[in-house]
Amino acid sequence: MSFVTSARDGAVAVIRFGEPPVNSLGRETRLALAGEIAAAIADPAVLAIVLCGRNGLFSAGADIREFGTPAMLAAPNLGDLIVLVESSPKPVVAALEGTCLGGGLELALGCHYRVASDGAKLGLPEVKIGLLPGAGGTQRLPRLIGVENALNVILGGEALPAKLFVGSPLLAALVAGDPVPAAVTLAAERGPLHRDGEPLPKARDRSAAGPNVEPLLLFARNTARAAYAAYPAPLKCIDAIEAAATKSFDEGLATERSLFVELMFTPVSKALRHAFFAERATSKIADVPESTPLRAVNSAAVIGAGTMGSGIALTFLSAGIPVHLLETSDEALQRGVARIRQTIEGQVKKGRLTLEAATTRGALLKPTLHYEDLADADILIEAVFEEMGVKQQVFARLDQVAKAGAILATNTSTLDVDAIAAVTSRPADVIGTHFFSPANIMKLLEVVRGRSTAKDVLATTMRLAKTLRKTAVVSGVCDGFIGNRMIEQYIRQALFMLDEGASPMQIDAAVEAFGFAMGPFRMSDLAGNDIGWHIRKRRLVEHPEIIYSEVADRLCELGRFGQKTGAGWYDYRKGDRNAYPSPVVDALIATHRTSLGCAQRVIDAREIVDRLVYALVNEAAKILEEGIAQRASDIDMVYLTGYGFPVYRGGPMCYAEEVGLYTVVLRMQEFSRNPHGDPAFWTAAPLLARLAANGGAFNSVGARS
Ligand code: 3HC
Ligand code: NAI
Repeated sequence: MSFVTSARDGAVAVIRFGEPPVNSLGRETRLALAGEIAAAIADPAVLAIVLCGRNGLFSAGADIREFGTPAMLAAPNLGDLIVLVESSPKPVVAALEGTCLGGGLELALGCHYRVASDGAKLGLPEVKIGLLPGAGGTQRLPRLIGVENALNVILGGEALPAKLFVGSPLLAALVAGDPVPAAVTLAAERGPLHRDGEPLPKARDRSAAGPNVEPLLLFARNTARAAYAAYPAPLKCIDAIEAAATKSFDEGLATERSLFVELMFTPVSKALRHAFFAERATSKIADVPESTPLRAVNSAAVIGAGTMGSGIALTFLSAGIPVHLLETSDEALQRGVARIRQTIEGQVKKGRLTLEAATTRGALLKPTLHYEDLADADILIEAVFEEMGVKQQVFARLDQVAKAGAILATNTSTLDVDAIAAVTSRPADVIGTHFFSPANIMKLLEVVRGRSTAKDVLATTMRLAKTLRKTAVVSGVCDGFIGNRMIEQYIRQALFMLDEGASPMQIDAAVEAFGFAMGPFRMSDLAGNDIGWHIRKRRLVEHPEIIYSEVADRLCELGRFGQKTGAGWYDYRKGDRNAYPSPVVDALIATHRTSLGCAQRVIDAREIVDRLVYALVNEAAKILEEGIAQRASDIDMVYLTGYGFPVYRGGPMCYAEEVGLYTVVLRMQEFSRNPHGDPAFWTAAPLLARLAANGGAFNSVGARS
C-alpha cells in the first residue's frame, strides 16, 4: 500500500506522505515519494511543490527498524531523496506540523522553504539512539541557525517548539493551525519567480563559518567528554558540525556519512535502539488486545503509610488522583502524612512546584484509620509489612469494604499474589503492583499478573501506570518476580566474592566502572540490609538446601542495616551520604573467611563484573523460559529502569547477546570450576544452553515486541 498521494492546487503539486503511526521514512515511502517528486518536477504545469505529512504530523524520521538492514541503504536512501528535493529546479516548500524529527527535519532542511504550524515540534534526536543526524542535518542546520544553536539542537536531541526558529532562515513563516494552505500560497508566489530566474535558496549554499566557532567546539567537546564519557555519539556530532563550519558542503556531507555509519554499528547505538523499542514493547500483552475495555480509575486508596505506602500515595497525588491513606494507628498515620507533606514542601522549595499546585495536591490526600472510608476507591493498593498473614488479613478486610469492580493491588516484593488473592471472594480483581523505592521517583513498576487476574484489570493497571508516568513491565507470579528474583542471585555471587578475597568497595567499584548506578553493597546499604536478611531467613525455611554466604547475616547481627542505622557494609557520617570503608566490616569478612578455611585471592574487575552480570543473565533465562517475563526485552527494561543497569549496554539480555551467548556459557563453565560457594550455581539454564549451542537469540522466545 502506498502512503504517498499527490494533488494539484493550481500550479502547485501538494505531495502528502506518511505511514502511520509516525510517518517514518522507510524504503516504500521513500520510493513512492521520490516517484511523486520526480513526476511533479517533470510536469510542465507544475511550478512549485509542497511536501506535507499525513495524519497531522510531518515525520518522526528514518525508520529505525530498518537500521543495520539492506532496506536502509536501498535506493533511494534518505540522502538521495533529499538531494532530489534540493536540486529540484522548482521550489519545494515543506509544511511542518506536529512531529518533525530526525530524518523528517532533515528532509525539510533540504527543501527551499519551510512553513510551520505553531504547534509543530522540531528536533534531531538521533543522539539519543547513539547516532548523529545522517541525512545532512549536521551540515544544513548549522548553515541555517548557526553553529552554537545547531550544537544545542543536535546534542540536546529534544523536540523544540517551532516558534524558537522564527527569524532564522530555517522558517519562512509560522502560522496558526494547518500549515498547508500557507505553504501552498508561498509556493504559488515563489514558483513563477524562480521559473523566471531567481535563484532557489538552498541551505547548502550558505556558510556556517564564523570567528567564534573554535571556542564553541572546544567547550562542547569538553562538556561532552565529561558528561557522556561512555557515549561515542556526542563527540561525533561535534566532529560533523565542525566539518560544516570548516569544509565544503560536499566534504562535510561525506564526513557526516562516514561518522554516521561508524556509529550505527557501535554496541552503544545498538543498545540504545534496543532500549527505544523495548520501552514501547512493555505495554503489549500477547493475549490482552489493545481494545480491551478499561475500568475507570479516578480515586485510590493506599493501605500502610510506611516507606512505600507514602511514596505510592505521592505518586497518585502528583497525577492529580485523590488518595485515601490508611494506617493501624494515628501515630503511624501522622508519620506517613508528615513524610508526604515534607516531600511536597521540598518540591516547592526547589522551585519544582508552585505553592498553588502543592496546596491542590495536599488537598487530595485523605488520611484515615477506618476501612469504611475506602469504599469509593477505584484501586486499593496494600503496602503493609511483608508477611503473608498480615497481607491476607488486609485483603480479607478490603474484600468486605471495596466497591464492586474496584482493583485490589498488593505491593509485595516477593510473596505469592495468588495466595493473597485466594482470601478474597474476587481473585479476578487482584493484581500485584510492585513499586520500587522511592516509589514517587523510580520509573519501574512491575505489574504482577496472578493466575486469576482479569484481562481488564491488567489492561487498566498498565494504562494507570502511564498516567502515573511509570514504565510498567508485566511479570508472572514467582518469588521476587523478575527483578528481585534475579538480584538475589547477583547478591549471592557478590557475597561469595567477599569470602574469596574481595572487599565491598572493590566489588562496587568494578560494577560501577561497568556502568551500574550503584554497586551491590552500596545498593544494599541504601535499601536496608535487613530486607535481604528477612528474605534469607524465609528462604532457608522453604529451601534448607540453598547454599549462600552467611557473611551478610553476620553483618546484620551487628545491627548494621545500612544508611538508616548509620552503618552497613560501609560507615556513614551524619549529614553525609558518602560511603566510607569500615574496619569493622573488613575484620568481620576476614574472620568469616578464616572460619570457612577459604584462601584469600585477588579477584580482578573482569571476574567481578562477569560473575555478577552472568548471574543475572542465567536467572533471567529461567524467568523467560518459565513465561514469568513475556519477552527478553521486558527483562532489560526492568533492569534499566529499576536497578541502574547502564542504559548504553541495553540491559542484561542485550549485553549478553552482544558478548555472545556461547561466550557467556563458556565463562560460566569456568566459574563452575571454582570450588568455593556453589559450583552448581553455574549450570546454564536450559534455554541459555540451547540458544548458546545453536546460535539463537533471546528475542526468539516469548511474545514479539
Ligand atoms: N522508526 C520506526 N518506528 C518508530 C519511529 C521511527 N523513527 N518512531 C516511532 N516509531 C514507532 C514506535 O516504535 C511505536 O511503535 P509501536 O506502536 O509498534 O510500539 C510507534 O511508532 C509510536 O511511537 P510512540 O509510542 O513513541 O508514540 P509517541 O506518540 O509517544 O511518540 C515520537 C512519537 C515522538 C515520534 C517518538 O516515537 C519518537 O521520539 N520517535 C523516535 C524519533 C527519532 O528518534 N527519530 C530519528 C530517527 S533516526 C533518523 O532519522 C536517522 C537520520 O538522521 C538518517
Ligand atoms: P514499612 O515498614 O516502612 O511500612 C509498612 C507500614 O504498614 C507501616 O507503617 C505499618 O504501620 C503499616 N501496617 C502494618 N500492618 C498494617 C495493617 N494491617 N493495616 C494498615 N497498615 C499496616 O514497609 P515498606 O518498606 O513500606 O514495605 C511495605 C511493602 O512494600 C512490603 O510488602 C515490602 O516488601 C514492599 N516493598 C518495599 C520496598 C522497599 O524498598 N522498602 C520496595 C518494594 C516493595
